Amino acid sequence: PGNTAVPPRAEIGVIGGSGLYEFLEDAEPVRVDTPFGPPSGDPVIGEVAGRTVAFLPRHGTDHRFPPHRVNYRANLWALRALGVRQVLAPCAVGSLVPAHGPGTIVLPDQVIDRTSGRPHTVYDMEGPVVHVAFADPYCPSGRAAVRAAVSPDAGPVVDGGTLVVINGPRFGSRAESRWHAAAGGTVVGMTGMPEASVARELAMCFTAVAMVTDHDAGVEAGEAVTHAEVLAAFAANIDRLRGLLMSAIEALPAHEPDDTATCPCRRVLDGMTLPIE
Ligand code: ADE
Repeated sequence: PGNTAVPPRAEIGVIGGSGLYEFLEDAEPVRVDTPFGPPSGDPVIGEVAGRTVAFLPRHGTDHRFPPHRVNYRANLWALRALGVRQVLAPCAVGSLVPAHGPGTIVLPDQVIDRTSGRPHTVYDMEGPVVHVAFADPYCPSGRAAVRAAVSPDAGPVVDGGTLVVINGPRFGSRAESRWHAAAGGTVVGMTGMPEASVARELAMCFTAVAMVTDHDAGVEAGEAVTHAEVLAAFAANIDRLRGLLMSAIEALPAHEPDDTATCPCRRVLDGMTLPIE
């Protein structure tokens, strides 16, 4: 008695990396445990434009987890457990095409998964088999919200494109890079999968917001990519990215929990049993 604290809730989730940790002011960290262990860091919940937003540091607050060791399942599960049904996922990427230089923000509409060895599904048990539709991996209304949020000072924003996700932590060779471009890739990163597919498995709207930090090794204009170059370019553009995310949050549709009219994302599990309420 007297200790019946209602767990905090959030409507929108942002999974972000370095430079975005101060995304929310006066935010409260919340401890959330999941069947897959703890998330990368305690999500913090705050308000942006009247919307309740949970921010989760993808690599941990001290940037402890390299892309292949991020607990994507726990991160998405933790957000979902807080009530989050729409996720904005900023990430750093290399460009596979000469036209999109550093500073360009790409909103992918397709993904090619080149990762391996990552725990990649929340349906990792025997029982009714679940096959989730993933033909269109990203939420169309999430992408529309980011598009609507683009202002003149947002810099170049490209709507659509294919994100190739490599395992890392190494960058690609020139041959791999040329191959990814030939396969139709627009940008290449290390964290996009299984983040997008686990979100889909939990019937969450997921929107990747990819910041180009370099030309990947196979692009004529590009030298070999270095970690320092990636960090510097990300830092140089972080304010623009944060501004775009803030406006996108405002533009995201206000869903009722069982609303399926604005996008197909939450219908993907119709007729199947979700492992989470
Ligand atoms: N993240 C930023 N730049 C990258 C690149 N060139 N390849 C893979 N991941 C990246």
